[in-house]
Amino acid sequence: MGKESWKQHKALLKKLPEPLLAWYRQWGRSLPWRENQDPYRIWVSEIMLQQTRVEAVKESYVRFLEALPDLKSLAQADEEQLLKLWEGMGYYSRVRNMQKAAQVALKTWGRLPSSASELQSLPGIGEYTAGAVASIGFGKAVPAVDGNVLRVFSRYMASFADIGRPEVKKEIRQAVEFILPSECPGDFNQAIMDLGATVCIPKNPRCAECPLRSLCRGAGLGVEKEIPVKRASKSRPCEKKTVLLLVDPQGRLGLEKRPEKGLLAGMWQLPSLEGTVSGEEVKRWAAEQGIPPAREPEVLPEYSHVFSHVQWDLSGFFCPVYPSLEKGEPGGSLEWCTPEQLQKEKALPSAFRTYMEIFFERIGKGFPEEEPKEEPKEEPKK
Ligand code: ADE
Repeated sequence: MGKESWKQHKALLKKLPEPLLAWYRQWGRSLPWRENQDPYRIWVSEIMLQQTRVEAVKESYVRFLEALPDLKSLAQADEEQLLKLWEGMGYYSRVRNMQKAAQVALKTWGRLPSSASELQSLPGIGEYTAGAVASIGFGKAVPAVDGNVLRVFSRYMASFADIGRPEVKKEIRQAVEFILPSECPGDFNQAIMDLGATVCIPKNPRCAECPLRSLCRGAGLGVEKEIPVKRASKSRPCEKKTVLLLVDPQGRLGLEKRPEKGLLAGMWQLPSLEGTVSGEEVKRWAAEQGIPPAREPEVLPEYSHVFSHVQWDLSGFFCPVYPSLEKGEPGGSLEWCTPEQLQKEKALPSAFRTYMEIFFERIGKGFPEEEPKEEPKEEPKK
């Protein structure tokens, strides 16, 4: 904000909470994690919402809490179950960190700690998530500054400062601290999130429906659509891969495990070859693995999957093969899974979802969930 620091807008800021909270009480969204204030439930919701949209989180959230209702059950869960419960949401390091955090919290405090600084010392909990859990779950007066808050506040103060800069984020955080009502900090933080998600939306904000319209400097000056200013994000490197649906005569699908380190560590995946390879190359590769193709590999649609730091450009082949070899035999690093096993036990990253849908279509089984949209928010800690 520079010269136009929030301090110049103190009087304007002070007017924000009352109409916002009145609006929230009437229009705030009814969401599964708002049913009570159990800090564990709030924490799970905030981790899920870090990079996945509200609509996509709702169903997984209920399923997750039914299976792992408290810190202890999460701390003790086995990895396959954890990954299965997280299936479809992407960024699997989030759930692994969550389990580590549960173990540390139980050992250190016997429960989740209530202060933002203690929360922030746990794996996977950054400044935003610590603020959200401390304010919503423990009633502490701390800000939870996410992209919604940066947008709402920048527009409210008509600030053209680049919200990608840490100093700007810090100033907005101070502005929130300045007006955060100590009697209901969790409601206040969630009210801004809801306003940002439903009214003060990134494109074409619905100013006519906004409880702050008569106060908002951005709308008053007619510059709301030009704000927030954010420098162009760095482009991601692209990796080309050819994904294979290897199906054996019993209709089982060949899967392999990803390496224990790096992107999607330890997850099951469809076997894939580096680069965009031809059907001939696929046939040669399969024969070398001891699983010769039963017929010509069939070309599948191409698509891209975007992660936070890399993009996969995927091509694919549907490739019936025989004979199926068991684990340990030549080419047998593949594990052959029935459609039932795939649905109940094996967690596959959503990057492979389109090809998995094709597999289930061919094999005559439905694929249960919808593709969630990933919305980068806070980088999970590595
Ligand atoms: N996004 C992140 N946290 C949220 C919450 N508590 N309510 C709605 N949207 C959110």
